[in-house]
Amino acid sequence: MLTGKSPYLQVCRGLPADRVPVWFMRQAGRSLPEYRAVRAGVPMLESCRRPELVTEITLQPVRRYGVDAAIFYSDIVVPLAAVGLDLDIVPGTGPVIAEPVRTRADLERIPELHPDQLTHVTDAVRMIVAELGDTPLIGFAGAPFTLASYLVEGGPSRDLHRTKAMAHGDPDLWHALLRRLAQISGAFLRAQVEAGASAVQLFDSWVGALPADGYRGLVAPHSAAALAAVADLDVPRTHFGTGTGELLADMAAPAGVDCVDVLGVDFRVPLDEGARRARAGAGRALAVQGNLDPALLLAPADVLVRAVREVLAAGDRTPGHVFNLGHGVPPGADPGVLQRVVDEVHAWTPARREV
Ligand code: CP3
Repeated sequence: MLTGKSPYLQVCRGLPADRVPVWFMRQAGRSLPEYRAVRAGVPMLESCRRPELVTEITLQPVRRYGVDAAIFYSDIVVPLAAVGLDLDIVPGTGPVIAEPVRTRADLERIPELHPDQLTHVTDAVRMIVAELGDTPLIGFAGAPFTLASYLVEGGPSRDLHRTKAMAHGDPDLWHALLRRLAQISGAFLRAQVEAGASAVQLFDSWVGALPADGYRGLVAPHSAAALAAVADLDVPRTHFGTGTGELLADMAAPAGVDCVDVLGVDFRVPLDEGARRARAGAGRALAVQGNLDPALLLAPADVLVRAVREVLAAGDRTPGHVFNLGHGVPPGADPGVLQRVVDEVHAWTPARREV
């Protein structure tokens, strides 16, 4: 049965699709030789400011793999740079903030984000959508907690001690910071959708550092606010983090707000169990996205194929499944192996059964 509709958008909306849709977090990037070729000599943040380059890089994995969605090539810190914060993305390390945010005075250095600061983003989105045809573009933003983690720590951190110490030790400052970041995150999502993105994903990559009660009290209302910024635009919203097994029910409807259509599940929780937690939290069935362990991309082909089929079988036991990795494509992944995964997913005949 061919509906001619995007399988990705159908599944996000809880509707039937011809096949299990697949895309990969970090599908554009260093694992692709064509990416390394066009990025040569161009720093990461600079590359995000050139709409032609952003368009080319966003389209590369769609052309190569035939994935069911494109994700906008940018970074979670791009909107922070757009409001004037001094930061860089250091190859092999990640975002580094020149002056970390630790005090009320530091917070006052972070202005609100206005759409006119994002013309490089909206120009690129329009160019991409014009080239993509029927393939949907996913817009994204970093969630307030994950953005705060970079700002407070000053860069990547294994344990997020400073971030958690601020959240618990100075809740007024913490909530003021997250309110500001929710505005920035929401405005970044909104700009992408208004320019033509068909769906959004909120990345709360590091929020698994918190227990569920901490998530509820310190984070959830701000993530809900970021997602609510596109509530009137009728696009499906995916909410993703890693190490979030204990948080999935809350992330399915943060602060009790119905603002999530698809729940991202990392590789630590089977998809059908993730779908059960989503339903418990949201009070309704949600589609799930995930969750092949990226490490399996390095395993022998038979082991990989078996693992892909296990993910697909667990996905069949959910209300709807978007195939993805449990986290981003590692820079050393072999594009031929990713192609193998896409082909396996597309060859699968879904035997959907409501749970
Ligand atoms: O293909 C895509 O997924 C779209 C583009 C995208 C990038 N970053 C490009 C990028 C997306 C969606 C992101 C989001 C992002 N950025 C997240 C959330 C997703 C996740 O992985 O959890 C986070 C935490 C960041 C912060 C960040 N930016 C990190 C940790 C790194 C890696 C540092 C490194 O070099 O290993 C970056 C840099 C980055 N963002 C690269 C790319 C393609 C690599 C930079 C390069 O190629 O020079």
